[in-house]
Amino acid sequence: MNPLQFKRHRRLRKTESMRSLVRETYLHKEDLIYPIFVVEGSGVKNAVASMPGVHQVSLDYLAEEMTELEHLGVRSVIVFGVPNEKDAVGTQAYHNEGIVQQAIRYIKKEHTSLTVIADTCLCQYTDHGHCGVIRNGDIANDESLELITKTAVTQAEAGADVIAPSNMMDGFVAAIRKGLDEAGYSQIPVMSYAVKYASAFYGPFRDAAHSSPQFGDRRAYQMDPANRLEALREAESDIEEGADFLIVKPALSYLDIMRELKDRYHLPLVAYNVSGEYSMIKAAAQNGWVNEQEIVLEKLTSMKRAGADLIVTYFAKDVARYLEK
Ligand code: PBG
Ligand code: ZN
Repeated sequence: MNPLQFKRHRRLRKTESMRSLVRETYLHKEDLIYPIFVVEGSGVKNAVASMPGVHQVSLDYLAEEMTELEHLGVRSVIVFGVPNEKDAVGTQAYHNEGIVQQAIRYIKKEHTSLTVIADTCLCQYTDHGHCGVIRNGDIANDESLELITKTAVTQAEAGADVIAPSNMMDGFVAAIRKGLDEAGYSQIPVMSYAVKYASAFYGPFRDAAHSSPQFGDRRAYQMDPANRLEALREAESDIEEGADFLIVKPALSYLDIMRELKDRYHLPLVAYNVSGEYSMIKAAAQNGWVNEQEIVLEKLTSMKRAGADLIVTYFAKDVARYLEK
């Protein structure tokens, strides 16, 4: 009874059970990686003003955070250290008793079911806030590689399950892979921030991690948001250098890049749903302008639809709760 001979797509949308039968993309708790910010001292639980619901915690408060994650079924964390002392070469980043090394050691000892991913960079640890060392006003690539490699090795020694280098120096995957192998950590994978754009969406994170550049910006090492082919070159070289995972960061403005990487390469692909993406939703939701749960699930689903296998997100705990229902 359809003389016009058009397609009836709505047949598959009639009921929730029909819709769930044909649904193509699902979010799982196992896909989520929760970022944590660890500070020195004790008894510290500082709310990050620009990221409602996110805290900087000292080691003694980690137990609470980790137990909550375990109960919710979130199984992976990425750890950022926020040290008290900073200097020109980021000494605290590769100190055996640095805050991030202590945090990793603690989590691996007390919360053995969690996968601990170490963010490997220098910007929280340098007094100038850049991700490498500075020579003649420039971020010195090869000299910074030595420091980031030392950082990765101390994190592996502390028990990190995965090393995630994010300083965007050329050759960082090769340098870290070699450093880890020589130190006896050939089984520790590298999750490379392969495609990391110089983005305005990082603003709130820099409050949380105290990692704003004190002069200039990061455009001489992070990527130009206008570029797509450059993302493919970055991903290709990281794969050649031995990366085990690829991260695209930020997520939402770069879903096209994610789809392309997913179609071309065959490594697990990670979307980093960054701080600005988080805070915009929180702010709108607090104003009653959007439905937080619906918008969060829609956005994270779009990342998976675009090809992401895993999602680093400050919403991880919220999403685990939504999925429970
Ligand atoms: C720097 C770093 C950044 C983020 C984490 N580590 C970006 C930057 O400050 O340039 C951003 C994370 C976020 O916004 O959630 N290595
Ligand atoms: Zn950095």
